[in-house]
Amino acid sequence: MPAAPPRIYLDHAAATPLDPAVFEAMRPYLWLAPGNPSSVHCAGRRARAALDAARRQVADVLGCGPSEIVFTSGGTEADNLAVIGAALAAARRGRHVVTCAIEHHAVLFAARSLRAHGFEVTELGVDPTGRVAPDALANALRPDTVLVSIGLANNETGTIQDIPALSRIAHAAGAWMHTDAVQAAGQLDINVDRLDVDLLSLSAHKLYGPKAVGALYVRGGVALARLAFGGAQERDRRAGTENVPGIVGLGAALTRARDRRAERTATYRRLSSALAARVLHAGLGARLTGPPGRTLPSFAPLAFPNVDATSLLIRLDLDGVEVSTGAACTSGSLEPSHVIQALGLPAAYRRGALRCTVGLGNTDEEMQRAGDAIVRHAQALHELAAARTEVD
Ligand SMILES: Cc1ncc(COP(=O)(O)O)c(C=O)c1O
Repeated sequence: MPAAPPRIYLDHAAATPLDPAVFEAMRPYLWLAPGNPSSVHCAGRRARAALDAARRQVADVLGCGPSEIVFTSGGTEADNLAVIGAALAAARRGRHVVTCAIEHHAVLFAARSLRAHGFEVTELGVDPTGRVAPDALANALRPDTVLVSIGLANNETGTIQDIPALSRIAHAAGAWMHTDAVQAAGQLDINVDRLDVDLLSLSAHKLYGPKAVGALYVRGGVALARLAFGGAQERDRRAGTENVPGIVGLGAALTRARDRRAERTATYRRLSSALAARVLHAGLGARLTGPPGRTLPSFAPLAFPNVDATSLLIRLDLDGVEVSTGAACTSGSLEPSHVIQALGLPAAYRRGALRCTVGLGNTDEEMQRAGDAIVRHAQALHELAAARTEVD
């Protein structure tokens, strides 16, 4: 029997494989160096030195001071700490925060949780390309607005926001600006002064680092209420023993992403464009959900009319192609995700959002094979739907 062709992984926005060079940087701290960075003995000091070096690496990429970095258990914790921690710390100045309807739930649900503390939360809508209009932000700001949180790039469509323009508006109104850079960090410049942000979230497993480690940039002078109680780690901003091997991996992965950004993004762009072109020109009426030229290079965010993307995803998985959908399973029924709903796509496309995200291991030949498979299965689903309509 001929061997099955190797599987094609096109879900790098969900998780990237660990870069072998990053693993090599982590290796000593996974089993040779047992120390806790808070211990005073030699093993502890060795762990502390590794932590300090990784902190300098992350700070160097962000263009900030090492003391402005708080290591976390990932992007979710970084977002929660930014939104809840900064808002609660500023509650005496005001109780209004502004975010946007397409934020990751780590931001959106964190913001909504503030209502239990007497906050009002404004969730800005987006235009059909997924972008927040500067005027919409300006109109939402109030004298009691303490925080604005808008992601640098969306995790379903890859849409990039104009964060410097939005930050200027937030700052003019006296609010702090947070951006979730979890998806963007491996592909865009994340210098915090150029972005003009006060808080920025990162996660290692989106940029060829390990899972369950991230960081929050906190500009000097921005106060954070604590969310975890315990030790005084991370300058008393995040209690709990630091994930030393993970943090070493984050530092190495982020440095490599910065040093190789041009070459990596050119590769991503070539691959994702080839895949998108194959599908868009197949006569299925497919469209992109992210605006060309303002979408992360690794993203081919597709939407098909009259196709159930979950069925498409399952067929593709059986055929060896791994992608994701813009659907969330809510109480047993498959509803379009909050992002797809906020984009206001025509009704026929709402259940048909398919996110393909390329990465370093992908090849041009894989794009052809995956594109053919997507077209073949979408076509089959179209025909099934048409046959069902005829029977009805
Ligand atoms: C934009 C965005 N923010 C936050 C997160 C959460 O990050 P983590 O999985 O590291 O908790 C993700 C993960 O998919 C994301 O895409």
